[in-house]
Amino acid sequence: MTVSKSEDSFQDMSANLSERSRRVVWHPCTQMQNLIDAPVEPITKAEGPWLFGQKGQRWFDGISSWWTCLLGHRHPAIIQALHDQLDTLDHIMLAGFTHQPAVDLAERLVALTGRALSHVSFASDGASALEIALKQSAQAWLNHGLPLKTRFVCLSGSYHGETLGALGVTDQALFREPYRPLLRAGLVVSGPDNRRARLNGRTPQEEAALALTRLETLFQEEGATLAAFVCEPLMQGAGGMVMYHFDFLLGVRRLCDTYNIHWIADEIATGCGRTGTFFAVEQAGVWPDLLCLSKGITGGLLPLSVVLSSEDIFKAFLDEGVGRAFLHSHSFTGNPLACRAAVAMLDTLSDEQVLFHNKERGDQIELALKPLLECPDVLEMRRLGMVFAFDCRGGETQAKRIQAEAKSRGLLIRPIGATVYLMPPFLLSRENCVWLGDTLSASVVAVAE
Ligand SMILES: Cc1ncc(COP(=O)(O)O)c(C=O)c1O
Repeated sequence: MTVSKSEDSFQDMSANLSERSRRVVWHPCTQMQNLIDAPVEPITKAEGPWLFGQKGQRWFDGISSWWTCLLGHRHPAIIQALHDQLDTLDHIMLAGFTHQPAVDLAERLVALTGRALSHVSFASDGASALEIALKQSAQAWLNHGLPLKTRFVCLSGSYHGETLGALGVTDQALFREPYRPLLRAGLVVSGPDNRRARLNGRTPQEEAALALTRLETLFQEEGATLAAFVCEPLMQGAGGMVMYHFDFLLGVRRLCDTYNIHWIADEIATGCGRTGTFFAVEQAGVWPDLLCLSKGITGGLLPLSVVLSSEDIFKAFLDEGVGRAFLHSHSFTGNPLACRAAVAMLDTLSDEQVLFHNKERGDQIELALKPLLECPDVLEMRRLGMVFAFDCRGGETQAKRIQAEAKSRGLLIRPIGATVYLMPPFLLSRENCVWLGDTLSASVVAVAE
């Protein structure tokens, strides 16, 4: 039986879009019962850093739509590349076939690592990239004849996504607890945090060294059963923009080599230039064995994630039989449109020297946020590349009030607990940068306790 639009009782066109959404869309990361009092906001259009509502309202996308919209919405070069791609090849499975966007993208990413990482696997979301990295690590050890190396180590406060494998190495009780019986929990070690260093009168380097001591103790005790250590390099994003010194990454590389453990760098939030360099690990001058990227890789236009693997890991899967191969796949693995968008994003980053100009853009935002240093409600102001964060003395409640105030002033943010942060799109004018910093500062002052 076909149901015409007019017959469909669910589709009450007189209800507004947020109400229709509440009735049929299961929104992510949301208590649906709250949507009656706090409806979701319909967005009808986006342009550069701006999002537009149904009634002509305009908001600045202060967190790049969950950190994905890297350059700004609907970047013309990416849109053009997608149009061109649609005229030739929409999709083809990547088993038994290949296509130019996948090859171009893989070559570009491998080149960006200076060939330290040699092969690229494709998936669609951050969590599915983590699944690939975790599986490649464990199977590489198995193929090497070390079947006991199956456990993973992560940092306290880590976030690596919400599929079951990724949740196993995610130390976030809120997301993890309901699924605890289903998870194969990783071992959690307390990581470095520049805020803790300051509170305890330590330098960030000393803080990193202490965290490495804890990690080494664990590696000494459990090394024979450990497949990989996974971390978010330089900054734990969803954990509350926890920043730490790059010495920690240097030590991780050394310890992983010493104890024969893979290092998985999850650059899903920190990659694509967010921390100032294309990969955050570049700031330490070391490469992991596996590196995950997603979010900004397509400029935020289409879902795509990639895992870059070392030649050693890749070689561990080569054999005449298929049993030792990496048989993991998703239907849309290496989708040509998504890959083409990613190549256009990389072209734009280099053609427009985006990361170089971001230094100045970041400085302008930081300058405009400076009045907050005098505000007693603002704790631990911090910046890494194009990430700006502080903690609210008044906790989560105060952060939510700042969020509401900022929205009324045309700025969309989404605090994490007590942490308020900006992670704006990169392509901003000087005027945008000043407005952004000023508007957040004014919002904080307006709700000061
Ligand atoms: C560091 C990190 N890893 C993994 C993920 C999961 O990515 P996705 O939400 O695309 O599955 C996220 C998402 O925020 C992330 O920040």
